[in-house]
Amino acid sequence: MKMFLPLLTVVLMLICGASATFGQSARATTGTHKFVGAQKCKMCHSTEKIGAQYKIWEASKHAMAYKDLASDTAKAVAAKLGICDPQKSPECLKCHETGYGLPASMFETGFDSTAGVQCESCHGAGADYWKMATMKGIHANTIDADSVGLRLPTEAVCLRCHNQESPFYHGFDFKTYSAKIAHPLKEE
Ligand code: HEC
Ligand code: HEC
Ligand code: HEC
Ligand code: HEC
Repeated sequence: MKMFLPLLTVVLMLICGASATFGQSARATTGTHKFVGAQKCKMCHSTEKIGAQYKIWEASKHAMAYKDLASDTAKAVAAKLGICDPQKSPECLKCHETGYGLPASMFETGFDSTAGVQCESCHGAGADYWKMATMKGIHANTIDADSVGLRLPTEAVCLRCHNQESPFYHGFDFKTYSAKIAHPLKEE
């Protein structure tokens, strides 16, 4: 046992080192649109008049996804997997951060990677659709949402993260889970 413990430490260090290297190549697919961050959406999506989507999101677990990687629960499960720091590990960040693994050039200044699973994780990177005229055009169907990178997410988007690769997978039912995060546009 005395011989075994130091050996175990070496093995753990090797695993931790290895996971950091894998992270460099574990890139998500690159689109052409850049990420702007939830702070940008906040400008217009905070008022009750429009439906306060930002406030609903801010109070949701998605907004806490990065911060929660520092919790004791997160650290305990990470340790079992040989991961040293969940907030630095690609194995956790790929689902707990927005646009994780993409090159820095895909993020506009002001993007905050500690804000967790942000609007753009589900709706698509926003640099080419966030302006008022574009948003109105999409809503009026004079601008094709797809062409500027905006989507109304379907179940497939959720399943990228809500799957058995997550150490805390509790199953996923699109209807119930969508209802829990509902933030519709308010009709005028
Ligand atoms: C400059 C203001 C503004 C900003 C910034 C903005 N939006 Fe909007 N957005 C609007 C308005 C206004 C509407 C409703 C359009 C209407 O009623 O004509 C809208 C509608 C939407 C819709 C529904 C589109 C549809 O099909 O009807 C989504 C989804 C959306 N916004 C997401 C976002 C996200 C995500 C961000 C941040 C990346 C964002 N918006 C930033 C003003 C904005
Ligand atoms: C495949 C995507 C994915 C990966 C990889 C992933 N997570 Fe998660 N994590 C999720 C999802 C989705 C949830 C919410 C599950 C639910 O509530 O149904 C979650 C929830 C959590 C929670 C909250 C648990 C609770 O019940 O309060 C913690 C803590 C957490 N994850 C830590 C980690 C750590 C640490 C890692 C890396 C070892 C990790 N996750 C890797 C997707 C992922
Ligand atoms: C976890 C995924 C997810 C996140 C994060 C998210 N949304 Fe959504 N959003 C959805 C889904 C799902 C719908 C419903 C789509 C539908 O009705 O087909 C939706 C609907 C909307 C709508 C209403 C569209 C309509 O036509 O009624 C707006 C506006 C919107 N989101 C804006 C935002 C903004 C702004 C943020 C960030 C503050 C955000 N969303 C974060 C998944 C998400
Ligand atoms: C980029 C990854 C990602 C995507 C995409 C995503 N989620 Fe999540 N979701 C998470 C993580 C991570 C958590 C847990 C955050 C935490 O607790 O720290 C979570 C938590 C949740 C929770 C809270 C569960 C609880 O225990 O209360 C709901 C509800 C949810 N997601 C619904 C959805 C729906 C619906 C979609 C698709 C429209 C979606 N999510 C898309 C990563 C994601």
